[in-house]
Amino acid sequence: MIKQKSIDSVMAAVRIEEVVGDFVSLRKQGQDFVGICPFHDDKNPSMHVSPRLGIYKCFVCDAAGNPVKFLMEHEKMSYPEAIEYLAKKYGIPLEYERTESDEERQQRTLRESLLIVNEFAQKYFMEQLRTTEEGKLMGMAYLKERGFMDATIDKFGLGYCPDGWDNFTKAALEKGYKEEYLIELGLTGKSQSGKLYDIYRGRVIFPIHNDAGKIIGFGGRILKKDGKDPRKYVNSRENTIYHKSDTLYGIYFAKNAIHKQQNVYLVEGYTDVISMHESGVENVVASSGTSLTQGQIRMITKRTQNITVLYDGDMAGIKASMRGIDMLLEQGLKIRVCLLPDGEDPDSFAKKHRDSELQEYLASESKDFLLFKADILSKEAGNDPIKRASMVNEILKSISCVKDNIERAFYVKECAKLFDLSENDLNLNLRRFVWEKTKEQGRVVQHQQQQVQQPSIIDGPVVVEEQGVPHLIDSTKHPELSQQTDLLYEAEKDLILLMLNYGNLVIYEASKNEEENSQGLRVDQYVCNEMQKEDIRFHYPLLEKIFDKYVDWASYIGNQDQIIRNFTLAEDPQISEFVIRNIPVEEPKFSNHWKDKYDIHTHTTRNNIRILQNQVQNIILTLKLRILENDATIIQKILDQEGLAEEDMMMALQQLNTLNQLKKEISKRLNRVVSR
Ligand code: CTP
Ligand code: MN
Repeated sequence: MIKQKSIDSVMAAVRIEEVVGDFVSLRKQGQDFVGICPFHDDKNPSMHVSPRLGIYKCFVCDAAGNPVKFLMEHEKMSYPEAIEYLAKKYGIPLEYERTESDEERQQRTLRESLLIVNEFAQKYFMEQLRTTEEGKLMGMAYLKERGFMDATIDKFGLGYCPDGWDNFTKAALEKGYKEEYLIELGLTGKSQSGKLYDIYRGRVIFPIHNDAGKIIGFGGRILKKDGKDPRKYVNSRENTIYHKSDTLYGIYFAKNAIHKQQNVYLVEGYTDVISMHESGVENVVASSGTSLTQGQIRMITKRTQNITVLYDGDMAGIKASMRGIDMLLEQGLKIRVCLLPDGEDPDSFAKKHRDSELQEYLASESKDFLLFKADILSKEAGNDPIKRASMVNEILKSISCVKDNIERAFYVKECAKLFDLSENDLNLNLRRFVWEKTKEQGRVVQHQQQQVQQPSIIDGPVVVEEQGVPHLIDSTKHPELSQQTDLLYEAEKDLILLMLNYGNLVIYEASKNEEENSQGLRVDQYVCNEMQKEDIRFHYPLLEKIFDKYVDWASYIGNQDQIIRNFTLAEDPQISEFVIRNIPVEEPKFSNHWKDKYDIHTHTTRNNIRILQNQVQNIILTLKLRILENDATIIQKILDQEGLAEEDMMMALQQLNTLNQLKKEISKRLNRVVSR
């Protein structure tokens, strides 16, 4: 582990334009630099590099980050590799935490060695496929028969392992690769008599890449049909670098397309991924059969919220895999399914149809998962009332996994139509499932004593059973109740961006009777005062963290750009990511140096101050309004419940009344600020 102190020195020395400039040719434009973005196909200089903020940002593909992120994305370096690279570039000596470093470095070198062995193996297999008689006759002939094109075979690095006893193992040992590594990687086996042999002998090889493009494992398909070896495919087993549960076949070749299309197709295996690529569908990965693990889901949600699962026509398979999908819904993923005609898998379907036909089929046959499930179960249950009842509950259970309440309402509506039941009845049961889920989650959250990151919306009854009517709404204390609308998020975000962009500007000059050395009131001071005075608190933990850090840094860092650079380099990736994403690259509208540029008494400056004053007022008032609206929604939900005690109802109504009064007042003031 590199010491934080060393990382800090590296960060203090790096200049974004020099780091990016090593890989992309940059042209000066005003204060910034521009260049052709290396993260997508482009001819125009869409990438901006801002020395002021220490970040790069592409206006087309959304790539953005600090120097470390650039190296990680562009050069596929790990975090420590990027730091080491920068330290070397800027001649900064690194110190390592000694206790951990020995073991860690050993692990690291082990991983690196294993990756190198795999790289050798892949090259060897590829060469066998392309240059040897056996490779061409057996391997290549088979791949051609399957209809794979040369370019594809190349791209996926397919290969062939000769059908001898130990051709590969011998070649590897001759090159000096250690026997223990070959065995650890599952490339070589050892018989009881101690003889080494090739595990993949006589097989066509599919290398498995991780999302940085390193080869972490292999799949090998048998060619001979003599039936001696019962395994059609041999796949790498778990080892130091290959973890099945964190692997998606094809992710490296799919990631750009996933990002661009904002959707990923999920298929079963190697051949499906490859055939779809050949048909021009590149946003496709394979999970290797089983339902997705948390690790695999994370690899996807990093890039998109939309998954389309491709099913072959086999009903038993479909039903088995449906169970795993509730988990995906809980992660907030949007799931669609596409059912292929009976007897077809994506591989065979892609082969039989023209590219455009496959693409059209995917577009037109993809259906919302929940509606698809409802449809299938409904057909299966037929008219049997008991079966139908349990089917409805099965669907409602899935719907209860959906986080967004508007989406949930949509599903209830659709299912009501589909099952010919009233929405009310469905909602009644749905609430039960949501309530059960909430209790479970509540327990987990309490247990871990952690803040709820993305609170779900809970229906009315939960409030009553759990805590009765809250007598004084403090929605920050009830993130789980709060509506947490986008509007509230936007308002809190605006406030944060205001602080970051203009926090150090003086908007109210010191009055005469204040002390001599008084500098006047800065935007950030004004905002802090208002927040305290009005007891405004953040609802979004990330934004709250950023606010706290800002206040902390602003108290001793005089330079606003430096504060932003601190954020873009922040240890917590969520924080740096947020700031990098949202901070405008261009110079702020109101210059940080306006006092130097203009005489403070000129008309222009006064005008600027007036505009900024209004903007600050506007943002604070809007935030207050959003908070009141949020509170009102919570109370409304309480009122909507059946069987509310009269006393509680009166109380809630009274509060709602007060809130509405306040809302009106603020709206009035907002109008005045805006029209001024
Ligand atoms: N698969 C696997 N292990 C198996 C069978 C299948 O890992 N024992 C995976 C492979 O990734 C394969 C995919 O499932 O690409 C599709 O399976 P299947 O169609 O049986 O394999 P193919 O090689 O396409 O065989 P066939 O020519 O018989 O269709
Ligand atoms: Mn097949």
